[in-house]
Amino acid sequence: MYQATSAYSNPIDKWFRTDAQLNRLYPDSIQLLAHRHWTPLQITQLVAQFLVTHPGVNVLDIGSGVGKFCLAGAYYKPHASFYGVEQRKDLVAHAEDAREMLGFQNVHFIHGNITELDFSQYDHFYFFNSFYENLMDKEKIDDNITYSTYLFNYYHRQLYKKLNAMPIGTRVATFHCLDNKIPPGYQEVDSQVQTLLKFWIKVL
Ligand SMILES: C[S@@+](CC[C@H](N)C(=O)[O-])C[C@H]1O[C@@H](n2cnc3c(N)ncnc32)[C@H](O)[C@@H]1O
Repeated sequence: MYQATSAYSNPIDKWFRTDAQLNRLYPDSIQLLAHRHWTPLQITQLVAQFLVTHPGVNVLDIGSGVGKFCLAGAYYKPHASFYGVEQRKDLVAHAEDAREMLGFQNVHFIHGNITELDFSQYDHFYFFNSFYENLMDKEKIDDNITYSTYLFNYYHRQLYKKLNAMPIGTRVATFHCLDNKIPPGYQEVDSQVQTLLKFWIKVL
């Protein structure tokens, strides 16, 4: 497993100096989507700090795209494991390619829908408003899947149920997400970046 020892001491470090540099791990078509769809490094740093509570913790990115959040999380926290579930097979392939280029062992990508995933395998969760694409009329990732208000509501109901079933102490970080999508048993413990980034802990 790659371990960061000190700033700039490893060739891998160069990929994580800026978002533009990290985006270069991906083809041009994927880089063009970065501004709208992939988590900036500054956000991942804050989220990883909150979600990585102990060595060996398992963090799930709900809708992991090309894996930018997971890969950066794994870089900042080499003793944690980052998992990403993603419905688009081509994005999972890009994530895998990037993971191989970096040589990270503490990142795993799963091709599938969040509705099929057993959340009890994970400790804490990150959610970058993944279902909102169902309501967007421009700047979509692609036109290869069906989008609908029905799916937006259905996925949120499923997410709500899964988070509700998690034990007390479960942490969730949301980015650009409405508060009413998180079950009331979760207490908001902090918010940053003009309240776009919120940190929650299950207390009930
Ligand atoms: C805004 S992008 C975020 C990507 C990644 N979390 C990051 O920050 O770099 C949301 C991703 O969620 C995926 N997604 C949306 N609904 C999903 C679902 N029901 N199951 C799995 N993936 C889903 C989309 O395909 C998209 O790649």
